Amino acid sequence: MRRYIAGHTGLVGSALVRRWAGQPSMELLTATHAQLELTEPRAVWAWLEANRPHEMVLAAGKVGGIGANAGEPVAFLYENLMMEANLIRGAWQAGVRRLLNFGSSCMYPKACPQPMRPEHLMTGPMEPTSEPYAIAKWAGLSLCQSYNRQHGTQYLTAIPCTVYGPGDHFDAQTAHVLSALIRKCHDAKAQGARSVSLWGTGNARREFVYADDLAEACELVLARYDGDGPINIGSGQTCTIRELAELVADVVGFQGELQWVRSEPDGALEKRLEASAIHRLGWTARTPLREGVARTYQWFLEHETHQGASKVACAS
Ligand SMILES: NC(=O)c1ccc[n+]([C@@H]2O[C@H](COP(=O)([O-])OP(=O)(O)OC[C@H]3O[C@@H](n4cnc5c(N)ncnc54)[C@H](OP(=O)(O)O)[C@@H]3O)[C@@H](O)[C@H]2O)c1
Repeated sequence: MRRYIAGHTGLVGSALVRRWAGQPSMELLTATHAQLELTEPRAVWAWLEANRPHEMVLAAGKVGGIGANAGEPVAFLYENLMMEANLIRGAWQAGVRRLLNFGSSCMYPKACPQPMRPEHLMTGPMEPTSEPYAIAKWAGLSLCQSYNRQHGTQYLTAIPCTVYGPGDHFDAQTAHVLSALIRKCHDAKAQGARSVSLWGTGNARREFVYADDLAEACELVLARYDGDGPINIGSGQTCTIRELAELVADVVGFQGELQWVRSEPDGALEKRLEASAIHRLGWTARTPLREGVARTYQWFLEHETHQGASKVACAS
């Protein structure tokens, strides 16, 4: 069985590689960004035609926190649209029957009832900052469902809560909140700073899943999920951004003050996914938040030593 992971060097993709590498019954197919530009249709289709995977996971994407979404809306819409369109059409052309695509909790309305259920999708306006990214994610979901309807494929879409872990991006300007907090607290400690300033009030509540736990959920979805609609992958591990910042500061060993810049946005007050469908498949998140943050910080120390923090976006 040949399984292709698009975006295998990223946060989610590298966790999938850790889970599946070395399984004797499976040949893992990968190509780096330098080897295969996924926004180029002909290159993607030719590569898939030549390699003919049986299954695919679309872990490639243009991904980032509020700052990145606000600064590069064109790239978040265009690149994600192109990658999904090329990979999903290429999958069908190459005879791939089963594929896992990723949506995002940004697809849910900004004022969504909590916890967010798939039936809440498309029931209200989305958060404007991440709307271009969310619309690309919408297009990916709809394309998968359209292929299923028209061609009888099984192209699935999972919607994870915020993912973190080894292989994350740690740029304070563009990263998701947890990895940006690690960068910020690490740099503040290294520079002997007395305080760090963080966006918002710290009161927004978010849900986090460790990348290797998500990889386990993806395996179950690929093997056993047969619904047409998207499946939420929520860990149930929620905390406020303030609690998260205190936890990160503790793990990193930064003992200075956390100063909240209340004039900066919080984003939605709460984002929590209703996850009964993935629980029914037998999955629960195993990694407690503190343990996951400690492992992520260890990875950061081993791989990311350059400096460069400034403002930290407080929601993802
Ligand atoms: N992270 C989250 O919290 C989260 C939450 C919900 C859903 N998701 C979804 O999960 C998927 C994976 O996210 P992630 O966090 O793992 O992202 P990531 O860490 O940024 O990884 C993205 C991967 O895609 C590759 N890539 C990006 N643009 C490419 C291009 N034009 N051509 C070829 N390869 C390209 C990257 O390679 P290079 O680095 O070499 O460019 C990298 O391997 C995305 O669809 C994302 O929307 C993520």
